[in-house]
Amino acid sequence: MRTVPAKVALLLPLALAGCAGRDSVMTPAGSNAVEIAELAWLLFAGGGAILVLVLLVLWFAMRGSPRTRSHLAADATVIIGGIVFPAVTLTGLLIYGVTVMGAGLPPPAEGERIEVTGERWWWRISYVAADGTRFASANEIHVPVGRPVDFLLTSADVIHSFWVPSLGGKVDMIPGRTTRLRLTAHRPGSYRGQCAEYCGGPHALMTLHVIAMTDAEFESWRTREAAPVLGPANDMERRGQAVFLNAGCGACHAVRGTAAAGTIGPDLTHLGARRSVGVETLPMTAENLARFIADGQHIKPGNTMPPFRVFSREERDALTGYLLSLR
Ligand code: CUA
Repeated sequence: MRTVPAKVALLLPLALAGCAGRDSVMTPAGSNAVEIAELAWLLFAGGGAILVLVLLVLWFAMRGSPRTRSHLAADATVIIGGIVFPAVTLTGLLIYGVTVMGAGLPPPAEGERIEVTGERWWWRISYVAADGTRFASANEIHVPVGRPVDFLLTSADVIHSFWVPSLGGKVDMIPGRTTRLRLTAHRPGSYRGQCAEYCGGPHALMTLHVIAMTDAEFESWRTREAAPVLGPANDMERRGQAVFLNAGCGACHAVRGTAAAGTIGPDLTHLGARRSVGVETLPMTAENLARFIADGQHIKPGNTMPPFRVFSREERDALTGYLLSLR
């Protein structure tokens, strides 16, 4: 039995190591996340101090001199320590917590607006400019550093939850309702997000990346991303585009600038510029695209895309080459 505290002491640093790192609420990189981390540290510190105080009182109640013990048993001690102190502390914390979290609830949108719809099991993303023009994307969100971005969140099917720990708190995405979140990234980087509400099947694979860029980088990215794709640049890409359109991919997927205008699945307009295939499941390579097209159910079980195993090797290579060229 003696070794148990030693084991706990040895394992504690390991457990705490899980709280650190890039994509952690303890490493905030945005204003909303900073407020949450401050609130968490205050609660940890305050809770720790109160625990020490209670243990001290307990020790004096058991081992103290008769005089100390009679002081502790006095009506005044019980009323002040047992009623007044908790009431004042908890009321103070409630006001502080509501104030801090209230700051995360934005007034009507003014700056950059990004609409995110939770789908099983991916993220439909729509960038809306101040003049109301919009374009679609999926699974990767780009934001400018230092500028507040309003996220308008909803769901197409079941309840999902939008959570990017380094940037802010989680907000549920509820069918038929629009919830809001305002995030400001403090420094450039890529921040991992995760659906935080069990939504069935491959919920754990419903991840996303928020990429924070400097203002200039964001503006040039936005201009590029809002534009339709250029036509195929060579024979292989032309062949790949024909395979894409003839196989009916456009019934579910859109590629702006071509006849493909489906809205059931993710918009693929600038797919080749994204980092991953199947929502963060695999890195973006021709090999992984081919795997997802032929056998997506093994990579993301339950996803709504049927397996396409009808392509010859040559057609497959042309198709993945074309998809990677969509940049
Ligand atoms: Cu979407 Cu869990």
